[in-house]
Amino acid sequence: MARLDTPLVLASGQRLPNRIAKAAMEEFLAVEGQLPGPGMVELYRRWAQGAAGLMITGHVMVDRRALADPSDVVLENGTPLKPFHEWARAAQSGDGRIWLQINHPGRVMTSDMPGPVRSASDVAVDVGRYSRLYPRPEPMTAEQIQDTVRRFASTARMAETAGFDGVQIHAAHGYLISQFLSPLTNRRQDRWGGNLDNRARLLLDIVAAVRAEVGERFAVGVKLNTADFQRGGFGADEAARVVAMLAELPVDLVELSGGSLESLATHGYAADGSTLAREAYFLDTAAAIIADSTVPIMLTGGIRRRSVAEDALARGTAVVGMATALAVDPGLPRRWLHGEDATAQVTLPRWRDKALAAAAAQATVRCRLAGLGRRDGAGRRAHPILALIAERLHRRSALRDYRRWLSGQQPAAPTE
Ligand SMILES: Cc1cc2nc3c(=O)[nH]c(=O)nc-3n(C[C@H](O)[C@H](O)[C@H](O)COP(=O)(O)O)c2cc1C
Repeated sequence: MARLDTPLVLASGQRLPNRIAKAAMEEFLAVEGQLPGPGMVELYRRWAQGAAGLMITGHVMVDRRALADPSDVVLENGTPLKPFHEWARAAQSGDGRIWLQINHPGRVMTSDMPGPVRSASDVAVDVGRYSRLYPRPEPMTAEQIQDTVRRFASTARMAETAGFDGVQIHAAHGYLISQFLSPLTNRRQDRWGGNLDNRARLLLDIVAAVRAEVGERFAVGVKLNTADFQRGGFGADEAARVVAMLAELPVDLVELSGGSLESLATHGYAADGSTLAREAYFLDTAAAIIADSTVPIMLTGGIRRRSVAEDALARGTAVVGMATALAVDPGLPRRWLHGEDATAQVTLPRWRDKALAAAAAQATVRCRLAGLGRRDGAGRRAHPILALIAERLHRRSALRDYRRWLSGQQPAAPTE
């Protein structure tokens, strides 16, 4: 049985020095031009010292017109690579590997964002009284789908040139690829809709295009939902079949998570009434997928204690992923690897409005990341309400800067 300190050699030949990964967290630390700034570099230097065997960046967008938030980083044709090179180097200052998570938000764009909002079909985000923030998306044309595939591939190539060790394609949490996978958001009747083979086509085409564009030793991973935890949505049986399809390509690592903006399972709540464990939320749902998979599985969600991480490994998980816990204590992997029983104390707001509680929890984590990204910053804890207000204010100025940058650009660079 693998232990936390057992190295893992992936299909590409890449070696992870241990089984602990920092899962992706959208940092909101982009500076002018949607580039990673000094705060990002410092933050990843700290994580590198924390000894996680793998670090996955927060999502980086493949198209400057399609951002989930105006503070997101963009990497596409024409983006200067030096800031990305510095980011990768800082993350490689320890023994761990650094993969860039690449993403397209699809319909998860609020109406104040300037770009066109596109998805698999014209199904708008349904988050109760917050739904009006999200416009109804236009269904993507075949050309737009093919352009998106090429964008993922060229972003991956640029990540490799900048010195990253791999990419993770974000197919979870209700973003574009996940919108194609779910029958609730994909009502298409062409070759990208209907049966699972068709709904998974975008993901598989992206993986194949990325693989064809990068070198053999460059790792390619995918983050997938164990389930959406929405009635009629993408379920665990379909997830198991998609993992089997990915194994054929192959990919290096599949990270299993769950939920979306509509179902807050990512944070341990489930919209379809199913009960998620208080820790390692998805382990029970993922058990059958893990047992059958020939691809190493990384499991993320609710892991804060060493015994829980070890239990996940004992049940066949290849890598344990942590997000929130490593914002609270970036040195946690090192402590566990030295045999300490340290636990990250994570307190999520228990408000009746779960959507607001989830947004406040994320804002609190990001506030902590900003603190860790300052050279002097020990990373202060902020009150969730204050963190939420500070994030709203920051968003206003970030949106102004993003609009100015976007309007000063040529039309989006044509892809090769
Ligand atoms: C502030 C914050 C930002 C996140 N951003 C991303 C992201 O960019 N990409 C992604 O795949 N998941 C993102 N997540 C989800 C985490 O990777 C992880 O799946 C989730 O937080 C559950 O793991 P945890 O309980 O260890 O935090 C984010 C989570 C937080 C708290």
